[in-house]
Parts: sequence; structure tokens; C-alpha cells
Amino acid sequence: MTEKKVRAYTNIALIKYWGKRNEELILPTSSSLSLTLDAFYTETSVSFNADVDQDTFYLNDHLQDTAATQKVSRFLQLFREPAGISSSALIKSTNFVPTAAGLASSASGMAALAGAANLASGLDLNPRDLSLVARRGSGSATRSIYGGFVEWQMGTTSADSYAVPIDDASWDIGMVVVVVNHHEKSISSREGMKNTVATSPFYAGWLESTAKDLIEIKEAIRLQDFQKLGEITESNGMKMHGTMLGANPPLSYWEPDSVVAMQLVRQLRKEGIPCYFTMDAGPNVKVLCRLSDSAKIKTRFAEVFQNDQLIVAKPGPGLQVLTSN
Ligand code: DP6
Repeated sequence: MTEKKVRAYTNIALIKYWGKRNEELILPTSSSLSLTLDAFYTETSVSFNADVDQDTFYLNDHLQDTAATQKVSRFLQLFREPAGISSSALIKSTNFVPTAAGLASSASGMAALAGAANLASGLDLNPRDLSLVARRGSGSATRSIYGGFVEWQMGTTSADSYAVPIDDASWDIGMVVVVVNHHEKSISSREGMKNTVATSPFYAGWLESTAKDLIEIKEAIRLQDFQKLGEITESNGMKMHGTMLGANPPLSYWEPDSVVAMQLVRQLRKEGIPCYFTMDAGPNVKVLCRLSDSAKIKTRFAEVFQNDQLIVAKPGPGLQVLTSN
């Protein structure tokens, strides 16, 4: 039997999404911008014709529990309802991403699920509408429909909050990902951002400043100005983490080795190697660099970290449909 899988690559935000104005519809409080990476992805197949009497979800060949399956089931309703499908689904997903290590597995996971459900349901949504539906699974998944630099426009309603491709990033750009800790994080980004919006006195300042950062980073991308791109990325990420420190209770995803990695990035800059860090809702550090400098940077990090903690990534493509027998 021919089975169609969809592969979606993860993305790392350079201008962060950190807060919702509508929890149910996953509408963000600000627009964000990311780089899709080739090194981390999820492959998923969905079948509505399978011989199953309830939705059945395998992740990395393991049958998932009720809670995980319900999350997927609810999301699949966004395809079943408009397509008039009432049958149960068999969902098989493989993560080529350390799950929940702050490497945005929900982005590739939900984008791949959206792509696979789009195929299986016959809805055949275009990429823009697919990004809009992927958003309902996880905010960051909105951006993983496309490759390269991608903006998620916050929009005014659910109908215009979707991603747009900005630039295919086919210039000298890369990332060295420093996996400080691959264990599951204790506070999800969903919970963390909710509490930050509700309690952090720094939040208003964040919203004002991230809107400016977005305009400036788009100009830097247009001019292929790497230094500007990096400076805005590092500053924006730090400001997001600043909002969390102001939350009640205060929140920090950093670990001692995260700080070690950040200091090494600053040291490398002093030595004349342009590179900049960003961090998400986890302790791992992502180093934005020239792809042509990535081997050199990895070698320097390997003096402090184990080799298997260091992954070099290139800009990745958008959704791909794979056919296997
Ligand atoms: C820090 O997309 O995981 O990675 O929409 O609640 O599923 P939900 O959150 P999620 O949040 C990602 C937060 C971030 C920044 C970013 O990717 O923009």
C-alpha cells in the first residue's frame, strides 16, 4: 500500500512569539519571525480509512495515551468537519527532534500533522490557509509551513493570522544548536507565556519593542545584513526572557550551561567571529552564524560541550510530501 507522509521542519524564532490574545484560537499578541531549520523535523501520516474504531496515535512507534490522542483528535476535527468525514483516524508520527527540549518540536509536529490531515481529508488547503489551521495546533507551527525566513502576521482576526514567507535564506546563514539538556521541560511554553502575559509588568514594554524589532529585522534580511540580523535576534530573545523574569512566580528556562554557551558566543564575537544566540522555552542555546563559520564555531563549542550536544543546521524548506511503499 502506498502511504503518504508529510515532513515538516522545525523553526527557531528570531523575533519571538510569547503570548496569546485568544487562547482558544491561538491568536498571538504580536507578530513573530523565524528561520526554518533542516536538521530537525517530523514525519506524519494520517489515514481516515484505517480499520480503527477510535482515533489511534503512534508517536515514534509508541501508542500514545488518551491525553495526547485527544489533543490530536481535537485538531483533526478542523479537517474532518469541513471535509464531512466522520471516521476515526490512524495517525503515525516520527519526531526527528528531541521532543520538548525547547527545540520547538510542537512546531514541526503540528505542521506535519496539519499537512498530513490536509492530504488525507482531501481538503487541499493552500499553504496560507494551511498555516492558519496549523496555528490552531500550536502557534509556532504556523511558521513551519514555509522554509527560510517566515513571518507569522498576528492579524486582526482568526481569518488573517497566518504565516508568509519572507526570504528563502539561501545566503550564508546557519545555526549551531547547543543541546544543554534534552529532557522534557517542566513548564510548557503554553503555560509559561500565559502566566507572563497575566503577571509580568514588563509585558507592555515587550510588545512595544518587539514590534520595532520586527520592522528592523525585515530590513536587515532584505539587505542581507548579517550583523544587524544577529544583533536584533539576540536582543529580542533576551527581552522575551526578561518578561518571564518579571512574571509572578518568576520563570526562567536557563541552566548554568546555557550561560556558559552565551558567554562563549560573546567571546567568539570578541575574537572577530560574528555569531549571536537565542533561546526559547528551554535551556538550549541556538547560535545564529554564517554557515561558512559553523564548523569553526562547533569546534570551539566542542572544547566545552560534548560533540553530540552540538548540531549544525542549515536553513530548511517548507512542507514536503513523501511517498513510501
Ligand atoms: C518561545 O508555539 O510552543 O518558542 O502556541 O501554546 O503551542 P503554543 O506555544 P508554542 O510557543 C513557542 C514559543 C517560543 C517562541 C517562538 O517560537 O516564537
